[in-house]
Amino acid sequence: MSCRICGSENLTKYLDLGSMPLANKLLNTKDDQTDKYPLEVYFCQDCYLSQLGVVVDPQKLYKDYPYRSHISRTYTKHCYDLGFKIWELYGGSGYFHIPSPRVLDIGSNDGTLLHQLKRHGISARLAVDPDPTLNIYLDKDIHVLNTFFSWKTMAPLKRLLNIDKLDFITATNVFAHCDNLAGFLDGVRLMLSDYGVFILEVPHAYNMIVNNEFDTIYHEHLSYFLLKPLIKLFKSCGLNIFDVDEFPIHGGTIRIYASRDSRVVNKSVERIIQKEKDGGLYSIEIYIKFSQRIDRMMLRLLDVLNATSGKQVLGYGASAKGSTLLNYKGLIKSSHIEYIIDDTETKQGKIIPGCNIPIRPYNFQDIMDTDYIVLLAWNFKEEIMVKVNNCGYRGKWIVPVPNVEIL
Ligand code: TMP
Ligand code: ZN
Repeated sequence: MSCRICGSENLTKYLDLGSMPLANKLLNTKDDQTDKYPLEVYFCQDCYLSQLGVVVDPQKLYKDYPYRSHISRTYTKHCYDLGFKIWELYGGSGYFHIPSPRVLDIGSNDGTLLHQLKRHGISARLAVDPDPTLNIYLDKDIHVLNTFFSWKTMAPLKRLLNIDKLDFITATNVFAHCDNLAGFLDGVRLMLSDYGVFILEVPHAYNMIVNNEFDTIYHEHLSYFLLKPLIKLFKSCGLNIFDVDEFPIHGGTIRIYASRDSRVVNKSVERIIQKEKDGGLYSIEIYIKFSQRIDRMMLRLLDVLNATSGKQVLGYGASAKGSTLLNYKGLIKSSHIEYIIDDTETKQGKIIPGCNIPIRPYNFQDIMDTDYIVLLAWNFKEEIMVKVNNCGYRGKWIVPVPNVEIL
């Protein structure tokens, strides 16, 4: 195999999760077939990209995709705040003048981001997402293209639909899902106006390694990005990264701003590269240690769960992360966790593949006397714990990441 960014074959495997089910392929019944694929992570010694060894067919991964972005208020607020940033970059005062910038959102899911941008007066909006069942969530005035985004899919559509160059292209939590990264960025360059800005958000691999977030590893995430390899990749595709912001969302996200023109590069770019370097993220040793820590962390979680026998234990958040965590080396059994609560309607009534734990809606009456809740969606710790505790929950929380904690 060769590196997804630089083509090098100088790759070292540092994490092997064995054969795992596809995290978002939830089962309807326990007898449904569960397909499993290898889940192994490699580090490129030449450009420092972490990446999966096996690519599962995207048609398989994204058909009947149950994820809905709007479930999280934290993420919705994060999208609203991105609207301010767009106005700042547009040179607008924020006083919704006409014409408003034209924005394309890639991997738009249920349109949470585009919906929030409309609240800022940005109404010229385009959405790209391969799943047509998500179209029902979109505002009627959004122009939607149901396809995977790349130069190859956009070039004919752009001509056919006579789509103008765009002022902003946004892509949050979608780039890691893409196999052909250069094809994606070529599509961005094709659609972006001369002075337009591409805004990309990806989970930062720095946080994944430092904070033991191994459960962000699943088949959909083909790459785990540091800033350094991204700069190299963007440059090779004619895009210049001129600024980077960091956010705590999803366990640590970097938001990258890039353009076709060259601009003064903000000091934040050098600062984050220095942080990655100082953290040891450009050599393999830290990745090997990460893998060893994960093993210890999961054995501790198993001990904690074993010690709860006879008590009622539930989970909160049937996230894809949850699936990786629950299926880690087959340690956790359906007898450890009775069911998992999730507010996403499309997940409720289904079963997490592999560990076979059912998913149910949140109903406080059902959990009033629960002894423990395992917070699988630890990235929304604040939001979920406040909601449940405010209803009067008196049991304990087991938070698995970054270290197993009982609260
Ligand atoms: P994510 O980490 O991949 O975004 O997944 C988070 C999961 O947690 C997703 O299935 C939605 C679920 N969730 C709830 O059910 N209720 C909540 O209040 C929040 C914030 C998330
Ligand atoms: Zn590489």
